[in-house]
Amino acid sequence: MTATTLGPMTTRPCRDLRGRIRPPGDKSISHRAVLFGALAEGETRVSGLLESTDVLRTVAAVKALGAGVEHTADGGLRIHGAGQRGFRTPGGPLDFGNSGTGCRLTMGAVAGQPIEAQFVGDASLSARPMERVLAPLRAMGAGAWCENDRLPAKIVGHRPLKPLTWISSKASAQVKSSILLAGLSAEGLIEVIEPAQSRDHTERMLRLFGVEVDVEHDDASHWTRIEGPLLLEASYVGVPGDPSSAAFLTAAAVLTAGSDIRLDDVLVNPTRTGFLETLHEMGGEVRVVGEPRVGGGEPSSGVEARASALSGVDVPADRAASMIDEYPILAVCAAFAEGDTVMRGINELRVKESNRIATTAAMLEANGVTVRELNDGMVVEGRGPGGVAGGGHVLTHGDHRIAMSAVILGLAAKAPVSIDDASMIATSYPGFFDDLRDLGAMFDDAPQ
Ligand code: S3P
Repeated sequence: MTATTLGPMTTRPCRDLRGRIRPPGDKSISHRAVLFGALAEGETRVSGLLESTDVLRTVAAVKALGAGVEHTADGGLRIHGAGQRGFRTPGGPLDFGNSGTGCRLTMGAVAGQPIEAQFVGDASLSARPMERVLAPLRAMGAGAWCENDRLPAKIVGHRPLKPLTWISSKASAQVKSSILLAGLSAEGLIEVIEPAQSRDHTERMLRLFGVEVDVEHDDASHWTRIEGPLLLEASYVGVPGDPSSAAFLTAAAVLTAGSDIRLDDVLVNPTRTGFLETLHEMGGEVRVVGEPRVGGGEPSSGVEARASALSGVDVPADRAASMIDEYPILAVCAAFAEGDTVMRGINELRVKESNRIATTAAMLEANGVTVRELNDGMVVEGRGPGGVAGGGHVLTHGDHRIAMSAVILGLAAKAPVSIDDASMIATSYPGFFDDLRDLGAMFDDAPQ
């Protein structure tokens, strides 16, 4: 059974987590595999796909847009691409539920085809900014509308699109990827300039699907360029384990006495390893083991984690992009560290599935940890060897990463921690409780 069925729940303290787990497939790569397969000519095969509700929304969207998708007996996916001229206007709005990545990337894919589509989402997604993607798509010649920067949105695609140089004020892989996917249908140079490198899965997958991508960087900027129009050739994508999901298991092992776990096939793409690096700096006994395996252009490795005493650190602001989704669970680790942990340069957290600076602070405050909010971040005052009291009730605000962080907090705190809702954990990690149980955690009110 998966976390989908869970409502409120309580986590009780545990120790001695042991065992070996292969975390679920990477969410970012899974969305991209589905979209690339749909845009390519021919048949794309995907193995290791994350079958979470977020990714299944993208699968439903590409089907509505005209791609054929079959689930194979071995748990894989076979995608019959519609090709870059083959998308059709869907019969109704494309509903992306909770998924910012699925929504924003599909907007880019639709913008380069002569069709139109409406985009809707749940309450959390409907509170997130969309102009960051719509504005560049308009500049390329597509029709793109929404009200007050929020869903619902409408795209009227156009082919060919115009060349574009887009200077992004933030390092956002969603913005970059949306522009690059539209750029496949452009006539001329498409160039995205970011203040720092965001995750590069789109660039790697473009190469896997036969497209040339040029990247360049200096101390202040990162350039990504393609020259359209370009055709994607169907390929095979093996999706490695998600480091953002693995972070919860790693934290659980580091924070609970006597624990020693190994995670297999974890994506170790350097644009995603900021959390492991930071935890290591804090004194966490975490290490990447063995030579990375590079399948489909993405490196993966084993990761070992052991119970450790942690110290607070200053997390460099320029590391934010490589661990943007890991700050809530890093803040939980920081709560158990000796001394303060300072996190800066993370204002983007305010527009994730919830305002993650506010919801992370409230989660920790409810459990006896002091957090100071900064203009662009937060400081967690670590409790050190005295430990975290726990005993609090956490409001998740529909945010899967807050829910999972609170569960891990509850495994390591002195008293049980309750959360208002665990159902949305299925957006990124449907097997979360099963994996924790396999490592030895026990839950009174999670399904067996
Ligand atoms: C993602 C990019 C990040 C991240 C999100 C997944 C992606 O968002 O927070 O969970 O797959 O491209 P931004 O690009 O908006 O920072």
